[in-house]
Amino acid sequence: MVETVIERCIRWGYGWACERLYREFAWSYDLVSHGVSVGRWDVWRRIALDEVQQQGASTQLMLEIGFGTGALMALARSASLPVVGLELSPQMHAVASAKLARLQLDASRVQGTAAAMPFADDSFDVVVSTFPAPYILEESTLRECARVLREHGCLIIVGLWVTPLMCGRRLHIRPVYAAPSSAQQARVGRLLEDAGFTPSLTLRRAGGAEVSVVIGRKEASSASHRYCDAA
Ligand SMILES: C[S@@+](CC[C@H](N)C(=O)[O-])C[C@H]1O[C@@H](n2cnc3c(N)ncnc32)[C@H](O)[C@@H]1O
Repeated sequence: MVETVIERCIRWGYGWACERLYREFAWSYDLVSHGVSVGRWDVWRRIALDEVQQQGASTQLMLEIGFGTGALMALARSASLPVVGLELSPQMHAVASAKLARLQLDASRVQGTAAAMPFADDSFDVVVSTFPAPYILEESTLRECARVLREHGCLIIVGLWVTPLMCGRRLHIRPVYAAPSSAQQARVGRLLEDAGFTPSLTLRRAGGAEVSVVIGRKEASSASHRYCDAA
């Protein structure tokens, strides 16, 4: 599908606004995400923790990339899950740090890019990212995720796509909310495979929306391929 000039401008403007939100307006991120999701962001984000627990990784070491204001890290620490966080924005670090201190929780946090992670090979059992910015699908990021994961570990990406539901029907409100096209699903599957993962995609219904959960398992041999199941 060919993108029109107007669509390209909207996409560029949306990306620019997101960058401002991750940087100088990081203090308002929780408020904005609460507002644009009509209070559902936390419900959608919690799916990531369910997935970690379903993967049997609940007592193992988890890395969260792009942790934003640290809400998932706080949830994980409240459930006594060991977690390390990696986030690029210093302003997000400051907000997360204040949040964790307020809740009297602690989690190791590192400032850096997911495209070149300062961790040794085979360090984590699970890598999680919720509502990721475009960096998540960059080849360098996916290769780094595969490198820092132990064998049989998994990458869990929640909220690459979110589609609000109204009376059971999907609402498309671009560029924020839209269901993944089959071409987009296939592309993500290919990118994960190229990075050494066996990919799967499920669409989970929670908080009045369909939220995508992409899982990439780092296998010794990537034989099985289960991609796009209904939840
Ligand atoms: C949409 S926010 C998601 C925040 C949080 N995970 C959530 O559930 O609300 C994307 C986050 O990814 C961070 N980010 C962007 N590029 C990154 C990169 N290359 N490496 C690590 N974090 C990055 C941004 O600073 C921002 O905090």
